[in-house]
Amino acid sequence: MNDQIVVTNNLTKKFKKNISVDKLNMCIKRGQIYGFLGPNGAGKTTTIRMLLGLIQPSQGSIEIFHQNLNKKRISILQRIGSLVESPTYYGNLTGRENLEAVRRLRGIPEKRMDEVLEIVRLTKVANRLTREYSLGMKQRLGIASALLSEPDLLILDEPTNGLDPSGIQEIRELIKQLPESGMSVLVSSHLLSEIDQMATEVGIINGGKMIFQDSIEQLRQKRKSLLKVGVSDGSASHSILKRQGIQSQWQDDYLWLKETKPEFVSEINALLVRSGISVYRLEEVTKSLEDIFLELTGTEGSL
Ligand SMILES: Nc1ncnc2c1ncn2[C@@H]1O[C@H](COP(=O)(O)OP(=O)(O)OP(=O)(O)O)[C@@H](O)[C@H]1O
Ligand SMILES: [Mg+2]
Repeated sequence: MNDQIVVTNNLTKKFKKNISVDKLNMCIKRGQIYGFLGPNGAGKTTTIRMLLGLIQPSQGSIEIFHQNLNKKRISILQRIGSLVESPTYYGNLTGRENLEAVRRLRGIPEKRMDEVLEIVRLTKVANRLTREYSLGMKQRLGIASALLSEPDLLILDEPTNGLDPSGIQEIRELIKQLPESGMSVLVSSHLLSEIDQMATEVGIINGGKMIFQDSIEQLRQKRKSLLKVGVSDGSASHSILKRQGIQSQWQDDYLWLKETKPEFVSEINALLVRSGISVYRLEEVTKSLEDIFLELTGTEGSL
C-alpha cells in the first residue's frame, strides 16, 4: 500500500523576484509526526499555505491523499485540520462556546466537543471566558478546533511560538499522542530541540530549499563522534599517522580523528608514544544536533 499522504513535486513559490520556496520535494507518510524545521524566513509558512490551498504555487505540484490538490481541493481540505496563525476568539465567550460556534458551522456531531476538549486537556476550563485563557490554553483551543472534524492530517505552523517551557511541553505531549488515532501531523518549528523531542521524521528547510529529509534516527546518526587527541607536536603526529594510512585533522590545537573504537584509541596512543610524541589527552567528542544543523545549512541560523 502506498502510504504517502503528502507529496510535493518541485514545489516553488516566488513573490515577485524572490524565491521563498525552491523546488521543494516533501514526503509525509501515514502516521508520521513530520517536523518541518527551519530558521526564520526559511519558507515554512509559505509551504504550509500552499498545502492548505491558501496561496497558489508558482511552479510544481502538490498531492495529498493521492490526489492533486488543484483538482480535488474541497474534498482534500475537508480531511485536513490546521492551525496556521494564532487563533482569534470571542473573548467574552467561553472556550466551549467558541468551539461550539465552529462545530455548528461545520455540522459536526455534538459529542465530538467533549472528545476534543479532553484530547487538548481543556475540559476543566472549558466554561471559562477565553479572554482569561493563557497563551498556551488559547493554542490548545486552536488545536481542539482543528481536531473537531477528525482530520486525517493535522497541520500546525509553529504551535509553540511564544509559549513558556511548560506550555511547550503540554503541546508536545499532546501532539505525540495524536498518531495513536491514525492521524498524521505536520508541525513546523525553528527549534531543533523541540522537533527532536516529538517528531518521527524531519524535513529541514533553509532558504526555501529542503536540505535534509529523513527519519529523526538518521539525523541523530549524523552525530557521529570524533576522537580529540592532545599531543605535544601536532604536525609530527599528523605525519606519523598519515604514514600508517590514518587520516587526521589538526584544528583548534587538537588532532581530530573519525574513529573512536577503544582498540583504535589505544593503538593510536601507542603509535604516537612509540614515535616520541607525548599524548596528554584522548577524548571522544559527540556533535550536537546544532552542530549538524550548522553543517547542513552552512550558516549560523537562528537555531
Ligand atoms: N506575501 C509575501 N510577499 C512577499 N514575500 C513574502 C510573502 N510571504 C512570505 N514572503 C517571504 O518569503 C520568505 C519565507 O517566508 P515564510 O514566512 O514562509 O518563512 P518561515 O519559515 O515561516 O519563517 P518564520 O519562522 O519567521 O515564520 C521570507 O523571505 C518572506 O519575507
Ligand atoms: Mg512562519
